[in-house]
Amino acid sequence: MVKIEKMTTQHLAEVITLSVVEEQKKFVGTIDEILASANAQIRPHVILVEDKTVGFFLIDTTYAKTYDFTGQSNSIGLRSFFISKEHQGKGYAKQAILALPNYLSEAYPHHSKIFLTVNCQNPIAKELYLKGGFEDTNALYHGGAAGPQHIMVRSIKSSIRAVSQ
Ligand SMILES: CC(C)(COP(=O)(O)OP(=O)(O)OC[C@H]1O[C@@H](n2cnc3c(N)ncnc32)[C@H](O)[C@@H]1OP(=O)(O)O)[C@@H](O)C(=O)NCCC(=O)NCCS
Repeated sequence: MVKIEKMTTQHLAEVITLSVVEEQKKFVGTIDEILASANAQIRPHVILVEDKTVGFFLIDTTYAKTYDFTGQSNSIGLRSFFISKEHQGKGYAKQAILALPNYLSEAYPHHSKIFLTVNCQNPIAKELYLKGGFEDTNALYHGGAAGPQHIMVRSIKSSIRAVSQ
């Protein structure tokens, strides 16, 4: 069972051991580079399986200010999502992506949409996001270092919350 938590100093020893394979580094970089971009507005999160850290992502609350394509001020961004190489292919990314809306609707209740960009050379990740309910906006972002990226978006209102509203 996959859990999502905000990263704390207790996770640090495991987080710094996380890495992707060489060919995937162009998509997310190294964990040192990712952690260097984290701050109070760009929050690091861990993906846990039985309390072991298997993956990581950033939730960027400044995303709408940084990227015009969001078109609205209350959107947040998913960045640097990855599963460490030794844990890939076990369904953990899919479980985490499916758990994300409920987590975000609790942790970031004032935001209604989450955006991400995924490299056009990364069909595995794009497929994962589609399975997780993200939609391809059919627009491309050209500002990335590794070529054009699909812009994807998802509502983060949980189904439970949507029913009760
Ligand atoms: C993309 C990534 C997160 C997938 O993680 P994972 O834990 O291996 O994925 P899962 O085992 O949960 O599989 C989820 C889906 O991804 C796709 N997928 C995963 N591995 C795949 C492979 N080797 N070949 C084809 N599709 C694959 C499938 O659609 C799969 O869904 P399914 O189980 O219904 O077939 C992982 O490969 C990764 O960390 N890549 C490097 C970083 C990266 O590219 N991040 C995205 C940045 S936008």
